[in-house]
Amino acid sequence: MARHLITSAIPYINGIKHLGNLVGSQLPADLYARYQRGRGHEVLFLCATDEHGTPAELAAAKAGKPVAEYCAEMHETQAEIARGFRLSFDHFGRSSSPQNHRLTQHFAARLDAAGLIEERVETQIYSKADGRYLPDRYIEGTCPNCGFESARGDQCDNCTKQLDPVDLIEPRSVISGSTDLEPRETKHLYLKQSGMRGELQDWIDSKADWPILTTSIAKKWLNDGDGLQDRGITRDLDWGIPVKKGDADWPGMEGKVFYVWFDAPIEYIACAQEWVDAGKGADWERWWRTDHGADDVRYTQFMGKDNVPFHTLSFPATILGSGEPWKLVDYIKSFNYLNYDGGQFSTSRGRGVFMDQALEVLPADYWRWWLLSHAPESSDAEFTWENFQQSVNKDLADVLGNFVSRVSKFCRSKFGEEVPAGGAHGDREQALIADLERRVRAYEGHMDAIEVRKAAAELRAIWVAGNEYLQDAAPWATFKTEPETAAMQIRLALNLIRLYAVLSAPFIPDASAQLLEAMKTEDDAWPGNIGAALQTLSVGHGFAVPDVTFRKITDEERAEWQERFAGTRG
Ligand code: 2FM
Ligand code: ZN
Repeated sequence: MARHLITSAIPYINGIKHLGNLVGSQLPADLYARYQRGRGHEVLFLCATDEHGTPAELAAAKAGKPVAEYCAEMHETQAEIARGFRLSFDHFGRSSSPQNHRLTQHFAARLDAAGLIEERVETQIYSKADGRYLPDRYIEGTCPNCGFESARGDQCDNCTKQLDPVDLIEPRSVISGSTDLEPRETKHLYLKQSGMRGELQDWIDSKADWPILTTSIAKKWLNDGDGLQDRGITRDLDWGIPVKKGDADWPGMEGKVFYVWFDAPIEYIACAQEWVDAGKGADWERWWRTDHGADDVRYTQFMGKDNVPFHTLSFPATILGSGEPWKLVDYIKSFNYLNYDGGQFSTSRGRGVFMDQALEVLPADYWRWWLLSHAPESSDAEFTWENFQQSVNKDLADVLGNFVSRVSKFCRSKFGEEVPAGGAHGDREQALIADLERRVRAYEGHMDAIEVRKAAAELRAIWVAGNEYLQDAAPWATFKTEPETAAMQIRLALNLIRLYAVLSAPFIPDASAQLLEAMKTEDDAWPGNIGAALQTLSVGHGFAVPDVTFRKITDEERAEWQERFAGTRG
């Protein structure tokens, strides 16, 4: 049994995420976690809310709430929606937790002791109208790199270049819109990661099996020097983790906090501590400390492509620079963007489907299936309602749902609600089993490699193989002349329903549970030999005809939803 540590990029606290965010990190991470558990491995799957930084402060101000209260409420909201999507986190933590405060201050002390922290007096933008500094997203202006007019102080959303507020052309305050801004001097801590270039380069070079998307971004950042400039890790803000050296004050840094991108990845570790403190686990060190056995752990991270530089360079620089035996990531699965119906999802303009709205429209499995089978792996992908309708109606309703319904209803009407006897498998059954044997092993290969689309395509092919078998064997016709043979065919088909439930669980966990319940079995063991797996439900084993597993989406619904999500939400 292997041990898998799996983390999803932790979503910002400010607001409910859209389906593009979901498919870029949390959902594929859940797919992988469910799969590894299904294979019998030990899994620790962690996620959290990313609660610091200017986005949190700005959103709380907009909601008219104290930021701590806002974050507590939004954390609950996001946790509830995550449950709705069946995201099977072992713990959903908070980057504002006391555990993360302590650990972040600990890392800062270690980095300082290693000579990797430098105090620098620098120029930041001060807004006289607002009476405060304007770090990161508190300031917007034109991107000096690509000319995009709404670039934020920390990053340009258009060209993804990391920015410094002082770089922006024609800057303005996001709080008041004021352009009465002036440069002022203020002291900050810098992580001297530029000196770690060689070490990071070697580490990335050793990861020959990483997806091209991940390594190409990492290498670009390493080689054009952009990503490895020394990095400011503190901010003039009220909300955040106070700058301290472990437990001790940091002279000259009073009233300042760590930068959100310094403390957010540290929450991956703190979250495991929260998991233990919440009584859900006994030992977080065996997952995170190589001096406690974590060398045996396979650690996989999931994230959108914009997060890659922080996970391939900045966070590893923190870990390596600490000089302590922390576990480093083994594999980084990154994703391109999902676009929405001819444009981008837009949180500010309410364009596209947000996670809460999706669940109002249809249950989680419908969304999970479409999103995962169209995951933006090799390029950006696009959500359209036509494609969604077609996928749901064909793959889920016609192929899988219809198979289950035909088999279970036919059996009930001809043989009653138990697995019928009949004779031994014939050539057609042997051929199906051989085909499934190949396909299931291919499916495992894609899941092990986290090739999400390929895995979905293979799973669909596995469902199709069952349908084709049924069509070909035609037990409803066979029954008239050879009822024994029809019984054998249906016995196999009922076992296929159980096999489908097991194999499909990582993608569509609710349907999987429904099918296992209908087949009146708790045996969800991952199939070894397919022939043997298809004997699990033996003659006389009871079952029930399940309710409709997947319903179709009508043209009227499709048109209504298209209109509803075109972009109005404030
Ligand atoms: O892009 C985002 O949503 C960030 N909140 C991800 C942070 S991941 C990590 F480093 F914690
Ligand atoms: Zn730009």
